[in-house]
Amino acid sequence: MTQTKNIVWHDSVVTKQDRSKQNNHQSPVLWFTGLSGSGKSTITVELEKALFEKGIRSYRLDGDNIRHGLNNNLGFSPEDRKENIRRIGEVAKLLNDAGLITLTAFISPYRQDRDNVRKLLADGEFIEVYVKCSLEKCEARDPKGLYQKARAGEIKGFTGIDAPYEEPEHPELVIDTENKSVDEAVAEIIAYLETRNYI
Ligand SMILES: Nc1ncnc2c1ncn2[C@@H]1O[C@H](COP(=O)(O)OP(=O)(O)O)[C@@H](O)[C@H]1O
Ligand SMILES: [Mg+2]
Repeated sequence: MTQTKNIVWHDSVVTKQDRSKQNNHQSPVLWFTGLSGSGKSTITVELEKALFEKGIRSYRLDGDNIRHGLNNNLGFSPEDRKENIRRIGEVAKLLNDAGLITLTAFISPYRQDRDNVRKLLADGEFIEVYVKCSLEKCEARDPKGLYQKARAGEIKGFTGIDAPYEEPEHPELVIDTENKSVDEAVAEIIAYLETRNYI
């Protein structure tokens, strides 16, 4: 429920445009989505490092990390997943305003939830990156042993097993991690940002 009565927005004097000018780059949100084990965390960690080395200010928001703190009262029901993504979207928007490039690594299985975040941001500031990898491959990787637990019935509502994953329909980027290395993925994303003058 929104409770905005008697609450009045107070603008800053320093604007997002000022920050962008000082940083010498834009602050889009790169929204990584894909199955567990597809490679979202691995790629965003390496991308963050590559951007840092170029002197570009970025910040990574990662599913498990956020669930330790800000969202530690949320589980994995459809409603909680929706609220999880809504809050992350709002945090990403703050970082966008703060002039940082945000890299988010959340399964974010529902198209509607991702589209809602897209709507929070200005045109061109939401870059949906579909980290594409088959369920079979993700399950074979099983970096956290979660698929094994889900198959054993120890985890309910696991994306890809007994909860849906809705593929992006028009992602800005598709990274096929079955056929592309982490380094290639990072290079491709940086090239995308450079070509479009985000950085
Ligand atoms: N091309 C690739 N891109 C990303 N990860 C890869 C790739 N090839 C193999 N992997 C491995 O797949 C796993 C992906 O796990 P992780 O990044 O935690 O996924 P997610 O954050 O999407 O759940 C890691 O163990 C990583 O080393
Ligand atoms: Mg991860």
